[in-house]
Amino acid sequence: MKWWQVGVVYEIAPISFQDSNGDGKGDLAGLINRIGYLEWLGIDVVWLTPVFPSPFLDLGYDIANFCDIDPRFGTIEEFSLLVSELHRRGIRLLLDFVPNHTSDQHAWFIESRTSKQSAKRHWYVWAEPGGDGGPPNNWLSRFGGSAWQWDASGQYYYHSFLPEQPDLNWRNPDVRAGMADVLRFWLRHGVDGFRVDASAVLAEDELLRDDPSNPDADKDTPPPQRLKRVFTDDRRESMGYLEEMRQVVDEFADRALAGEVQGKTDRIGHFYGEERPRFHMPLNFALLDSPWDAFSLQANIDAYLNAIPKGAWPNWVIGGHDKKRIASKIGQAQARNLSILLLTMKGTPFFFAGDELGMEQVEIPHDRVQDPFEKLVGGYGLNRDPQRSPMRWDGTSNGGFTTGEPWLPMGSDVAQRNVEFLKKNARSLLTLYRAAIALRKRERVLAEGEYEPIRSRNDILAYKRVGADGEFLVALNLVHEPRKLEWSGNGILLLSTYLDSDERVVTCPRLLRPDEGIVLKLR
Ligand code: GLC
Repeated sequence: MKWWQVGVVYEIAPISFQDSNGDGKGDLAGLINRIGYLEWLGIDVVWLTPVFPSPFLDLGYDIANFCDIDPRFGTIEEFSLLVSELHRRGIRLLLDFVPNHTSDQHAWFIESRTSKQSAKRHWYVWAEPGGDGGPPNNWLSRFGGSAWQWDASGQYYYHSFLPEQPDLNWRNPDVRAGMADVLRFWLRHGVDGFRVDASAVLAEDELLRDDPSNPDADKDTPPPQRLKRVFTDDRRESMGYLEEMRQVVDEFADRALAGEVQGKTDRIGHFYGEERPRFHMPLNFALLDSPWDAFSLQANIDAYLNAIPKGAWPNWVIGGHDKKRIASKIGQAQARNLSILLLTMKGTPFFFAGDELGMEQVEIPHDRVQDPFEKLVGGYGLNRDPQRSPMRWDGTSNGGFTTGEPWLPMGSDVAQRNVEFLKKNARSLLTLYRAAIALRKRERVLAEGEYEPIRSRNDILAYKRVGADGEFLVALNLVHEPRKLEWSGNGILLLSTYLDSDERVVTCPRLLRPDEGIVLKLR
């Protein structure tokens, strides 16, 4: 098995991880100082959100130079130190790769917009006005309003996201060659792979056909989602570009590509590739999106496994910088079951820094909102700041994150929900995460074995993991009352979400306690 199949992946937004210079924003030096924590927890792979020079209008996803480090984070030398310090501890590094757009401050765009004759004109998506002199068509930006921005050079340019994030023109082979060199630049710096941002939207319809209205939309639907993105998303050409990216990554030994694929599970299979490979891991958000009950979960797990090609390696994501904290949705007791589910399923587990503490959505006062999504499409609960609140290392008011003013509020529960406090508690969620990760490493069947579902009954989600080195049963009681596990057989109890029992033989059927999840090694 490959490292990216068996490894546990941890997403870090460096701005929210550890500040080292008191400016209230995390940086590379701070992150390097916290590698010991990653090692203690058992993390195998770190994925960093963008650290490149950026005006930072969109958490750094507006990149002004793909091949350098933003001074707010540090220097390229510090980046190299980060790579070597992680590798020294056997931890791999994935970088965010943002192919769809640049910042309007990128040298390519600055040159592109100088005139219609600019040598870089066709590096971006420019179009003449529509019949009425307005935008070329009805396409909408995901962040609100038309996706077309009028420019003094005499045309409109297309932006899937902010007007300050013009879309690159992937039909242009020079763009593709330029972006391939960006990948090579970081691969030569020793990174182990990438998470490809917004990977389904690289190419738009060449005829600029209008999108139809979304029949499911009503007054509560955020305006940018009131059209169906038929002509801007999931175009066949985009898939070809992903294949080219994969070829570049395959020029280097043992690297991996993960990719952001939003939307319905049934789309996800395509992103693995057909004749030619695309991503090793198109990211799967099925657990996050599922209602939290046994029937829904068993169905969503099945739908996902059914949607990926035969032989494709699954993955499971339970948090991220764009996703509401799951502990706020399912509660602290069930967050414990989720940790077991994530770490005993077949497939690569991904979680977001702070999920292991049970971090919840942090309330953001109006005047501290940072996320452009909320600023531009407010009132629909889209703000992503609540999940981006900084990591808490100790119980002081700034959680040991910074000596300055944190860039986002820390939240009101820092005193009870921080690394230092939870580490001391032998039954905390953090202790459970660490135990489950260690168990996954010790019992390789949990990482590598086959998955065999067991029919859910009595609000219990149950399945087996089966391999040459044994059989394991996982059973999770998804309600806050005792429930009978009907399955019969016995095994050694390796882990309970209660963290209160020594290894002993458990015979089933038997009652699971309220919210209890268990892992048995069958005999
Ligand atoms: C991706 C990122 C998101 C960002 C967007 C535009 O969806 O995950 O945070 O806003 O791309 O780059």
